[in-house]
Amino acid sequence: MRKVSATFLSSKNIPRDLTKLNETDVDYIHVDVMDGKFVENKTLQFNELKYIYKYTSKRLDVHLMVENPSKYIPLYAELNTEYITFHVEVLEDIVKDLELIKSYSIKCGLAINPETKVSDLVPYLPYLDLILVMGVHPGMGGQEFIPETVDKVKEVRELIKSYNSKALISVDGGVNDKVKDLLLDVDILTSGSYIVLSDNFQEKITSLR
Ligand code: DX5
Ligand code: ZN
Repeated sequence: MRKVSATFLSSKNIPRDLTKLNETDVDYIHVDVMDGKFVENKTLQFNELKYIYKYTSKRLDVHLMVENPSKYIPLYAELNTEYITFHVEVLEDIVKDLELIKSYSIKCGLAINPETKVSDLVPYLPYLDLILVMGVHPGMGGQEFIPETVDKVKEVRELIKSYNSKALISVDGGVNDKVKDLLLDVDILTSGSYIVLSDNFQEKITSLR
């Protein structure tokens, strides 16, 4: 069955919504981390976010939208983390950062922005556990899904097959019950506002599977 990862970026009350998400069957909590440089916005700093365990025991799917993943990886590796994903567009040594994540026995992923070519992932395929295909331009929740993402996911699936990669595909941004039917070949659907701004989290999560 398809997995669902819920992000609280659009949440109006993070402790309340994390507690509510903890009562659902959502597979992961997607933690969006923004440094105000790679993307304009900034999110909760680590010294606040590290208390997330008080509100949820769900495994974390950390999405680093930061210029220097090497700075953030050791911090988020301390938490109940299943995946750490950063962007293929960063200027740091990507292989070094992927190996750093794996050194904590945490699964590693690369995210690609809408304007980035899928072929940019090729050098890293042997390392990847996850490819996060952005359905919106990173930086905020509640945006419209970019339709070209559907073809991009097909390209990523072809790449995984031809390079015999073990990476799973996740789509992040603008995902809802309409969009999910365009993404049947996706392993994990990451969704924010569609879930946390609704009045029934479980119903919305179930509608994505
Ligand atoms: C955007 C984030 C996404 C976003 C998804 O920069 O990486 O995870 O929060 O939120 P929705 O589902 O509301 O587009
Ligand atoms: Zn995200």
